[in-house]
Amino acid sequence: MATPHIAAEPGDFAPAVLMPGDPRRAQRIAETLMNDARLVTDVRGMLGFTGTANGRPLSVMGSGMGQPSFTIYATELFSQFGVERIIRVGTAGGLSPRVKIGDVIVATGAHTDSAMNQLRIPGVNFSAVADFQLARAAYEASLTEQTEGDGKVHLGTVFSRDHFYFTPEGQNEALAGYGVLGVEMEAAALYGVAAEYGKQALAVLTVSDHLLDHSGDMSAAERETRFADSLRLAVAAAHS
Ligand code: HPA
Repeated sequence: MATPHIAAEPGDFAPAVLMPGDPRRAQRIAETLMNDARLVTDVRGMLGFTGTANGRPLSVMGSGMGQPSFTIYATELFSQFGVERIIRVGTAGGLSPRVKIGDVIVATGAHTDSAMNQLRIPGVNFSAVADFQLARAAYEASLTEQTEGDGKVHLGTVFSRDHFYFTPEGQNEALAGYGVLGVEMEAAALYGVAAEYGKQALAVLTVSDHLLDHSGDMSAAERETRFADSLRLAVAAAHS
């Protein structure tokens, strides 16, 4: 039965779903990882595909940008389509000086300025944390699988910010001082929804820019290579 935002039937999705923000990237990922991908939903242009990768079922679907959009799709996937794990694959702006453009962040937890998780349990500052099994699988894949780029894989926290174009003065520096690795816009919401439904979630993020160190930039080719590296970690987590 279709939901308001996903025109698919139960069984159309694999138990594990990779979710980039951009639906066109979902299509490219499906075409790269699978040779049997079929389109299972396209409501509002939010493309979702299911097929097999490395011989095992996998789905890939766009999430849109920001925590409300991610929450809508993740809620419907977890509650109506039998999805057990969602791995966000996307980009983050670097914060920590240890993190360089092209590196990969496996987000073990996500701080946020969003109210979405604050509303869940009155009086509680909910801790948005990744599933340990998935994070461990991604980490282990980073140790054993060959990577083409020379970037590093970092495990640690990110900041899921609601604004893209507004940052309170000094906030980035303060977050970096607390060891936060990068900024993105969805992980905290994903981890909240996964907790609500007793499911598993992880975000694997490629550092596309650095908010405090503008010295290095990545070519388009480098971005694709590093994105491929983070995808390998995400697939390893999806099938762990
Ligand atoms: N802010 C939020 N999300 C991002 C950024 C950023 O600066 N860079 C990549 N994703």
